[in-house]
Amino acid sequence: MFAGAAIEAFSRPGDVVLDPHMGGGTTVIEALVRGRHAIGNDLNSLAVFVTRVKTTCLGDRECAALLRWADDTVPALSYRADVDSPNQVICSRRTRNLSLAMARPIKKIIALALDGLSSLPTERCREFARCALLNVGQLALNGRKRTTPLWEFRELVQGAVREMLAAARALRERVSAIPSAARLPMLMNVNSAVLAEQVPFSQGVRADLVVTSPPYPGIHILYHRWQVDGRRETPAPYWIAACNDGRGNAFYNFADRRDTAADGYFEESLRTLRALRRVMKDGALVVQMVAFGDPKNHLRRYLTNMLVGGFEEVRPLADAAGGACRRIWRTVPRRRWHANLKGDLHSSREVVLVHRAV
Ligand SMILES: C[S@@+](CC[C@H](N)C(=O)[O-])C[C@H]1O[C@@H](n2cnc3c(N)ncnc32)[C@H](O)[C@@H]1O
Repeated sequence: MFAGAAIEAFSRPGDVVLDPHMGGGTTVIEALVRGRHAIGNDLNSLAVFVTRVKTTCLGDRECAALLRWADDTVPALSYRADVDSPNQVICSRRTRNLSLAMARPIKKIIALALDGLSSLPTERCREFARCALLNVGQLALNGRKRTTPLWEFRELVQGAVREMLAAARALRERVSAIPSAARLPMLMNVNSAVLAEQVPFSQGVRADLVVTSPPYPGIHILYHRWQVDGRRETPAPYWIAACNDGRGNAFYNFADRRDTAADGYFEESLRTLRALRRVMKDGALVVQMVAFGDPKNHLRRYLTNMLVGGFEEVRPLADAAGGACRRIWRTVPRRRWHANLKGDLHSSREVVLVHRAV
């Protein structure tokens, strides 16, 4: 809702809308369905994978093949405990900690499902099915103590495919009314600090609007691992999505968890803000939702970074007396995107910041 409202309020059809830290791709989708040229970036290959699947307009033949896969192949997935599937053998390193008792049956069934993806007609279909397995695998394994029975897992996959297909059809309908140039987003997989050196920005394209949620100071989110049976981490999402992995948690949060003063965070954040300024038009707005581990101290430092990076704050809505409006804070709704915010009180409040590139 936040991204859609910001795009509606601060851009027009045909404008370039950028999210340099797109995560699950909300900004990209909201921009696409409003006829904007959407550019999304994230240094996590998994985020790029999920956003690519969510923004793919599948054809009728592809939708039918996926429904058949959900209705015929998925219910028939079963395994003999003593037989390993090729996917499982090859990928044992990428399935670390999935040999725990509560995860093993799910791992085997996912491995079998991955083995059977070659029956799907296109790479887009195979990615879509991988994404359904990713969604359900996360639901069944991440942060769970209870073993999900296989019948339930299979039903969840079927439900996920149907839900995702409904969303894909709705997206196709909405974007089909839009000039062809804006139908596909441009997705990038780089550190946002080097955005200016990448096509299309290196060729002179500039964003009219940036809508984003960067990593948060003092709050460490586990973007790249699931936690199985308590706190045992697994890189399995990358195995399921067939994406590259290999980085530590600090990589995805601007800073190491031990950086309690958040100095490293603010250094990295400034680097990305400077890069962001270079890829925006003069006067363009950046609208961001940010949470802080230590709100009083971190908000002040964040605003200083914005100034140094080349942005001035705007309070877009005047209050009843005509004065500048207070910033909008909100309580975070249920988190998706494999966030792990357990026990972090401040992270449940986020602020909307609006800045102009000067
Ligand atoms: C708070 S999340 C974004 C959530 C997103 N708005 C959504 O709705 O899913 C921050 C994202 O920034 C990405 N990220 C972290 N450091 C980055 C960097 N230096 N460059 C690009 N992306 C980065 C993380 O991988 C993560 O997906």
